[in-house]
Amino acid sequence: MTESLKTERLVLRRWREADREAFRAMNGDPRVMEFMPKALTTAESDAMMERMERHFERHGFGLFAAEVRGSGELAGFVGLSVPGFEAPFMPAVEIGWRLAAEYWGRGLATEGAREALRWGFEELGLDEVVSFTAEGNARSRRVMELLGMTHDATDDFEHPGLAEGHRLRRQVLYRMRRVGRQTRPSRV
Ligand SMILES: CC(C)(COP(=O)(O)OP(=O)(O)OC[C@H]1O[C@@H](n2cnc3c(N)ncnc32)[C@H](O)[C@@H]1OP(=O)(O)O)[C@@H](O)C(=O)NCCC(=O)NCCS
Repeated sequence: MTESLKTERLVLRRWREADREAFRAMNGDPRVMEFMPKALTTAESDAMMERMERHFERHGFGLFAAEVRGSGELAGFVGLSVPGFEAPFMPAVEIGWRLAAEYWGRGLATEGAREALRWGFEELGLDEVVSFTAEGNARSRRVMELLGMTHDATDDFEHPGLAEGHRLRRQVLYRMRRVGRQTRPSRV
C-alpha cells in the first residue's frame, strides 16, 4: 500500500496522533466548513481521523494528511475515497480536499490533488475519478477545473444525506477519466 506521496511543497501521508489538534482546529473553523452541513466537534473530528485510517486499511487508498514540506505543519487533507452513500454516479472513487484557511490561495490543493490523480490512475489503475461539492462552492469547483476535470450538468444530483430544501443539497459532479492507457478493471 502507498504510505505517502510527495509534491514540490507537500507530503501526503498517513495520519499521526500529532495531527489531531490541527485537524480539530481546521474542522471546527466555520470558514473551512461553509459548504459542509456543520463545523465538527472535537469528537466528530477525531472520529473522522479514525474513519480515514480505516478506509486506507479497507481499500488500500484514502484521504492523506497533507503536510507542508520543511515546516511539517498539517495543512489539511487531500486524497481519494469511496463515497459512503448511494447516488447515480456510484460506484466511484472520489478525489477530495480540505485545507485550513491559512493555507488557501497558494495552489496547494491543486498541487496535492494533481499528484493524487496521478497516483489513482497510474498506480491504483482507476479508470475514472469523480469529485463533487455543493453547487455554490466556487473555490472547490475552481480546483476541479484547474485539474482538468469536466462538468456535465446532467450528472448533478441531490445529496441523499441532506433534507429537501437544505442549502447544500444540490451537488455538482465533475469527472476525469484516465487517458492514454488500455482500460483494465479498477480495484474498487
Ligand atoms: C477548496 C480548497 C481546498 C481550495 O484550496 P486552495 O489551496 O486555496 O486552492 P488552490 O490555491 O489550489 O486553487 C484555488 C483556485 O481557486 C481560486 N479561488 C480562490 N478563491 C476563489 C473564489 N472565491 N471563487 C473562485 N475562485 C477562487 C484561486 O484563484 C485559485 O485559482 P487560480 O490558480 O486560477 O487563481 C480550500 O478552499 C478549502 O479547503 N475549502 C474548504 C473545504 C472545502 O470546501 N473542500 C471541498 C469540499 S467538496
